[in-house]
Amino acid sequence: MATTEYMLQTESVIKQYRQSESVITAVNRANIKIEKGEFVAIIGSSGSGKSTFLHICAGLDRANAGRIIIDGQDITKMHADELGRFRGEKMGFIYQKHNLIPQFTALENILLPTMMCNKPEMSYQESLRELVECLGLSERLHHLPSELSGGQCQRVAIARALINNPQMLFADEPTGNLDRTNADEVLRLLLKIRETRGQTLLMVTHDLSIAEKADRIFRMDNGVLSLERDYVGGNKKTVVSY
Ligand SMILES: Nc1ncnc2c1ncn2[C@@H]1O[C@H](COP(=O)(O)OP(=O)(O)OP(=O)(O)O)[C@@H](O)[C@H]1O
Ligand SMILES: [Mg+2]
Repeated sequence: MATTEYMLQTESVIKQYRQSESVITAVNRANIKIEKGEFVAIIGSSGSGKSTFLHICAGLDRANAGRIIIDGQDITKMHADELGRFRGEKMGFIYQKHNLIPQFTALENILLPTMMCNKPEMSYQESLRELVECLGLSERLHHLPSELSGGQCQRVAIARALINNPQMLFADEPTGNLDRTNADEVLRLLLKIRETRGQTLLMVTHDLSIAEKADRIFRMDNGVLSLERDYVGGNKKTVVSY
């Protein structure tokens, strides 16, 4: 009998921040299991813990308790350098604000993850060509981020997250800073590339029309993560706007 292959599993993840006298529980015992190739969206109000959870899942921040297992490996047990290598190989992260390095050209920004993993040029040439073409960046590769539009910067950030062809892709409101037309276009491209490459995607979004393209929608409410809609499994609980 075939067993389900999970790309990401979290078990009782807790993240707390101490602020003078008080403690904020940004993520409160979050459990999720995401199958390989699945697209899962997380919605929830501002300050509910979505970014904190995404950063912890991607190994950009450490949890106070719980386990995060990516493709069978527990990243909470990894040392910083091992985690860095693992992240470079397996994961891509698209930030809400593109986070491009201002002194680097678009091309240098895109290639940053390949340098961090010491990848030989041969190994990413095909990926680069495909991304540049699909994202319409060929004319802008030698420009600095300050010379690009918001939508172009976000497309460069997507190319950077995808250059190493990661199996697991995280996106934190990747179209949050764009107008409707640009947001729709950037998302269309992102989903098109993901479909060709068969990547697993965990995306935080405020935008319900985007969340509804996912296989499942989770809601983060005050640090507590729960299933809101399961389009594949048929759970059609109504998504309430906020
Ligand atoms: N470094 C930090 N130090 C202290 N508190 C923090 C820190 N980062 C986040 N928080 C707090 O943790 C909670 C969750 O923040 P988080 O950024 O995860 O929310 P979010 O759901 O992503 O919100 P938004 O939709 O506005 O991006 C908030 O109360 C926030 O103030
Ligand atoms: Mg956030």
